[in-house]
Amino acid sequence: MYNFGVPATLKAWIDQVCRAGVSFRYTENGPEGLLAGKSADIVITTGGAPLGSPVDFVSGYLKQVFAFIGIEDVNIFGADQMNVDAQASVARAQAQIEQIYPAVTAREVA
Ligand SMILES: Cc1cc2nc3c(=O)[nH]c(=O)nc-3n(C[C@H](O)[C@H](O)[C@H](O)COP(=O)(O)O)c2cc1C
Repeated sequence: MYNFGVPATLKAWIDQVCRAGVSFRYTENGPEGLLAGKSADIVITTGGAPLGSPVDFVSGYLKQVFAFIGIEDVNIFGADQMNVDAQASVARAQAQIEQIYPAVTAREVA
């Protein structure tokens, strides 16, 4: 999270990826994502803002971007409030990852 939104570099990536005729198209019924069947894992870190709070304009924005190109299966892992207690933040994110990918975390610990 940079100033309540995504960093400019991530925004530039999104602008390259979300292209009409490539990752979505316009139909008579409105826009249609072309990347159905794919999934995405997103890790969001913040300095002080809690994810899900009124100043979190990142989580919903990224979900919308991915849904727009057809990716509805999205996991968000949050290491938020890194400047409050970094270790606790990372532990929270690891616990979230472990819930979805137990094998991955077990391999990292081993
Ligand atoms: C330019 C800039 C703006 C930031 N804005 C916010 C913000 O609005 N809210 C927040 O909680 N943290 C903010 N942070 C803290 C970052 O979200 C946090 O340090 C994050 O871990 C940075 O990730 P990075 O190291 O991948 O850039 C900001 C950091 C920078 C450098």
